[in-house]
Amino acid sequence: MTDPQVHVVTHPLVQHKLTLMRNKEASSTSFRTLLGELAMLMAYEITRDVPTQLVEVETPLEKTMGPIIDGKKLVFASILRAGNGMLDGLLRVVPNARVGHIGLYRDPNTLEAVEYYFKMPTGMNERDVIVVDPMLATGHSAVAAITRLKQLQPRSIKFLCLLAAPEGIATLRQAHPDVPIYTAAIDRQLNEHGYILPGLGDAGDRIFGTK
Ligand code: URA
Repeated sequence: MTDPQVHVVTHPLVQHKLTLMRNKEASSTSFRTLLGELAMLMAYEITRDVPTQLVEVETPLEKTMGPIIDGKKLVFASILRAGNGMLDGLLRVVPNARVGHIGLYRDPNTLEAVEYYFKMPTGMNERDVIVVDPMLATGHSAVAAITRLKQLQPRSIKFLCLLAAPEGIATLRQAHPDVPIYTAAIDRQLNEHGYILPGLGDAGDRIFGTK
């Protein structure tokens, strides 16, 4: 049965750009550009239900009322470091949104996600958060980030990625069933090193050209 809380963005533009990103020959520059464009396109889908308010606007001809988004109420919470690769695109579409950062590393002994950085805007209890990480692999970082964010009691939390593994989706859905997931594709499986197959490799390395 399909899970109504897992949204796969199947738009041809999204799928086209994702295919270009999977190509191992894609340069860091084009990988980064494509990720930014994909983030913009996916922002369209994930913000579909954000609240709007009516404001007065004066056209060259007359006054009218029109809906606007209160962008400042949105927070893009980037899981470092690959999440940052999606921020530019998201902020181009919602320039008034706030930005938070969450840094996690995996403890080599316990394999638990350990927080080393956490910075969010104030007033989180009045904000809607979109947690951003291009790769939902094991799901451990996403679960830890969302668990930590929930301490601040935001109005809502959604999770945005580019690629998800079935294992990561299961882990995140089990830990946080209230958090919807938006992804461009669900790939086959994880390999023994926690990489998504077929995937696109190490997103952080490909964004920042560190390999
Ligand atoms: N993180 C990545 O960057 N790539 C994967 O395939 C899995 C986790």
